[in-house]
Amino acid sequence: MSKAKYTVTAALPYANGPLHLGHVAGVYLPADIFVRFLRMNKHDVAFICGSDEHGAAITLRAKKEGITPQEIVDKYNSIISKAFTDFDISFDIFHRTSSEIHHKTSQDFFLKLYEKGKFTEETSEQYYDEEYEQFLADRYITGECPKCQNPSAYGDQCEKCGSDLSPTELINPTSTLSGKTPVLRTTSHWYLPMANHEDWLREWIKEGKLDGIQQHDPKPWRNQVIGQCMSWIDGGLHSRAMTRDLDWGVKVPLPNAEGKVLYVWLDAPIGYISATKQYALDNNKNWEDYWTGDRKLIHFIGKDNIVFHAVIFPILLKDHGDLILPDNVPAYEFLNLEGDKFSTSRNWAVWLHEYLAAYPGREDELKYVLTSIAPETKDSEFTWKEYQTRINSELADILGNFVNRALVLTQKYYEGKVPEKGELTEEDQLVLAEINEIPKRISKLVYAYKLRDAQAEAMNLARLGNKYLADQEPWKVVKIDPKRVETVMNIALQITANLSIVLQPFLPATAAKLSNFLNFKSSNWEDAGNGDLMKVGNQTNLPEILFQKIEDTLVEEEVKKLKNIELMESKFDVQKDEVTFDDFTKMDIRLGTILEAEKVEKADKLLKLLVDTGLDKRTIVSGIAEHYSPEEIIGKTVQVLMNLAPRKIKGIESKGMILMAEDAEGKLSFMSPEKGFEAGCGIH
Ligand code: 2FM
Ligand code: ZN
Repeated sequence: MSKAKYTVTAALPYANGPLHLGHVAGVYLPADIFVRFLRMNKHDVAFICGSDEHGAAITLRAKKEGITPQEIVDKYNSIISKAFTDFDISFDIFHRTSSEIHHKTSQDFFLKLYEKGKFTEETSEQYYDEEYEQFLADRYITGECPKCQNPSAYGDQCEKCGSDLSPTELINPTSTLSGKTPVLRTTSHWYLPMANHEDWLREWIKEGKLDGIQQHDPKPWRNQVIGQCMSWIDGGLHSRAMTRDLDWGVKVPLPNAEGKVLYVWLDAPIGYISATKQYALDNNKNWEDYWTGDRKLIHFIGKDNIVFHAVIFPILLKDHGDLILPDNVPAYEFLNLEGDKFSTSRNWAVWLHEYLAAYPGREDELKYVLTSIAPETKDSEFTWKEYQTRINSELADILGNFVNRALVLTQKYYEGKVPEKGELTEEDQLVLAEINEIPKRISKLVYAYKLRDAQAEAMNLARLGNKYLADQEPWKVVKIDPKRVETVMNIALQITANLSIVLQPFLPATAAKLSNFLNFKSSNWEDAGNGDLMKVGNQTNLPEILFQKIEDTLVEEEVKKLKNIELMESKFDVQKDEVTFDDFTKMDIRLGTILEAEKVEKADKLLKLLVDTGLDKRTIVSGIAEHYSPEEIIGKTVQVLMNLAPRKIKGIESKGMILMAEDAEGKLSFMSPEKGFEAGCGIH
């Protein structure tokens, strides 16, 4: 039977921030393991990824950082793709949705469906910012969540209670652009009617059949994927707008569609196709071969992407008509970090690029730990303690120890040359049988997307080797029966050679080191299981230590870094949204000297101050009466925000504000300058 062909995709990461370990454990690493395994098994495979560079996530980030969307996507595309390269994720292509080929591919896709009458044009009322003269994407509107009263819920979701929202549900909606209340205006968009797709989707997802023909085996589909899709379909599939009013994205290729772009969740999965096109162009291949005929399309994703890949994109592909539907959508649950969710905004994260910079050469250690704890069927957790334990007591004590013993003893007894196998004992035969079985078990697990168990099975081979040497005690037997030791060491080296094959998908750098130690290299999975890979007389090398143990101090420092974030969080307000340098320079802050101070009648907290600012003498009302008496502050030089718009407080016009430091308990303190700095000095 000819080998199945595969197109494997990994969710396109948004180019609006770096990658953290949650992304890696739940998408990119498992996809990479799967693909490396397929390649070793001689499947024709293309591994496709790239950055997702459209949508409001990008434009919002650009606004926050005070740079253009193009600058944002260039910046994060480069951070993300470098991290993937440094972590040795073996994409065949890492492309970008801002590329020309992607815009053209998405527009052609849209037009094809449009011409086939697959969209309906509908008019609806949407929020519009009159000052900025634009419709507002859901993320551009904040307001009070109608479910939990969180005052800063987004137009599409409340991050506090997790509810999905629509912008019109928000209480007191505000535009994040102008800060004003948006108005409702009519706009028209192209919608994908999904209701008439419910029947075939149910059969396809649950039984793997399309028009009665078996497309895929539904068994390896994860329960949570089937469950989430079914509950979505059971809730009724409503039409979904496939276009948006935005100025960043793929332009709608129709007349009278000025200011409209494709919905990011339409263009992003088409990114898999456009990336394949670029890959084919670069490698003299036909892109259609990867999207038609007898080929398995596999989407590795996180659970928040399930409906887009297992419902909406399949509808689009079926409507398109010429392309294959996914064979499986292995979706991962979420990885938590030290007892809490990963959070980009709170900086509660271990960033991949930071890990790689801090611990160069320890890529395989991270891969091993992340695969061991991968959130395959339920949420799981990364802790630095477990990172240490897994490396020290599994990688170092089992794998490292076994390989080291096998090679060092070979050097010692035979100057590194592989000795001959003699007569086999029952134990030897059992070990050889197990060498033969383990790769088969790994295979089964990988094809069933159980990569966590598959890696554990590969480690069982090292365990087997460790136990074999401990039981046979060649270091003792060598004195009484050196011939027997030749057999034992031959078998130990066969185990090591097998490790250099079966570890390749999981720990490629380690497997390459083993190959160098052994002077033996095979990337053919079919070779695994063979107890005669190492030929008698083959020269092996003295090994280096494979894994350095992780010190307690590393764990303590990494945890301390996170705990510091937590401490800062609980004591002080979180950092406010970023401002640009221009925003900052609009503030006129100077030193001023308090000339007079008196209590404001019927206001316990307020003092009325007369302040010499170097420019003028002005009245400022300040809420410091509970912290300072009028007498003690006369003559003090303090910081003044000069150009705050004047306000009437208790009938007194206050022109400016005194700046104070506030501690966690709410105690206030002036920020006075060193001697010699007088009223009027600017603060920059
Ligand atoms: O959730 C995300 O990070 C999306 N950028 C994934 C897109 S996957 C695909 F459709 F491109
Ligand atoms: Zn809420």
